[in-house]
Amino acid sequence: MSSQTLLELKNVNKVFGENHVLKNIHLTIERGKFITFLGPSGCGKTTLLRSIAGFYTIDEGEIRMDGRVVNDLPPYKRGTPMVFQEYALFPHMTVFDNVAYGLDIQKRPEAEVLQRVKAALDKVKLTGLEERYPHQMSGGQQQRVAMARAIVMNSPIILLDEPLSNLDAKLREEVRVELRNIQMELGLTVIYVTHDQLEALSMSDQIVVFNKGAIDQCGTPHEIYYKPRTAYVADFIGTTNFLDAVVLSADNGTACVSFGHSDQTLTLPTTETLAPGEQVKLCIRPESLRMNQPDAGQFIMNGQVVSSMFQGEKERYFLQAEDGKEWIVDAYDIGEISYRGQVELRAMADKIHLIKLT
Ligand SMILES: Nc1ncnc2c1ncn2[C@@H]1O[C@H](COP(=O)(O)OP(=O)(O)O)[C@@H](O)[C@H]1O
Ligand SMILES: [Mg+2]
Repeated sequence: MSSQTLLELKNVNKVFGENHVLKNIHLTIERGKFITFLGPSGCGKTTLLRSIAGFYTIDEGEIRMDGRVVNDLPPYKRGTPMVFQEYALFPHMTVFDNVAYGLDIQKRPEAEVLQRVKAALDKVKLTGLEERYPHQMSGGQQQRVAMARAIVMNSPIILLDEPLSNLDAKLREEVRVELRNIQMELGLTVIYVTHDQLEALSMSDQIVVFNKGAIDQCGTPHEIYYKPRTAYVADFIGTTNFLDAVVLSADNGTACVSFGHSDQTLTLPTTETLAPGEQVKLCIRPESLRMNQPDAGQFIMNGQVVSSMFQGEKERYFLQAEDGKEWIVDAYDIGEISYRGQVELRAMADKIHLIKLT
């Protein structure tokens, strides 16, 4: 274990009755990072967070905090406070009392409470607002109060379970920035749970993608978006066009593949170990495809525009290829141009990502 490691999960399994909710979870979390658990509803994110916090006992495996096994410790001895939806601030209490709450429960001396609450509010830049009530503050400020409440406990890690899910879109974006700023300024270790891929991409140092209680991939937002390890990850994060292909040859970080009945071949960069004859999937993002641009890459496909949808910064096109397959293409900043009828699609080989089938 490196000194940077704060939390280590080894082979964590959790079962509810017949329902195997967490399956062989292995994960290492480093100090000072913003980690996001991402996945659709019901895939086990909250269960893992509650297991880390000590609200659930796991059935198999090990949870280590700072090198120490904490499996059998109750929540209040783990130092992992959770922040829930809408921050769960007490509406009838002032900011000061909200932040002091955890220390009051522990019956800390009054002078200590005063000093620690002051320091926590100072850290999140809310000094002077101690006597306000939550409803007198903006969403961003409420988020800061929620963070101060966790910071005041001197906890090594803060767990956030979809805290922004009930806010409207604009406020959510503002609070997201706020939260990430506090985390970076103070070097906090945060685990953040969401089902929103955009939220995950925009805030995280590392994203952990859950698929039915197991981890499909753990990586930086760029790795998850551009180098998804499974079709599930590629499909869940953003929009992707998939294409079946066969490996002809592979060596030295590239693979030559063939696809389609036109027997096209392409040489692509890849880090996977592949054998000739192996079936793979190619994935091409809608923004990586160009229409009717002869110099836009070695990958070529012909299609018919079926419909399109204006989305402000881009126009999204739905096309049908000769084999009947649907393609999605995003065209940016094209002004008055619109594509109709038969078009030629192209993409650069280095924008095509190869996925090994398991
Ligand atoms: N306390 C519980 N008792 C029984 N089943 C539960 C309990 N909590 C969660 N589950 C089940 O575990 C699965 C994962 O739930 P959860 O961790 O809440 O998913 P997520 O947070 O990703 O939406 C679901 O099938 C859910 O019904
Ligand atoms: Mg949940």
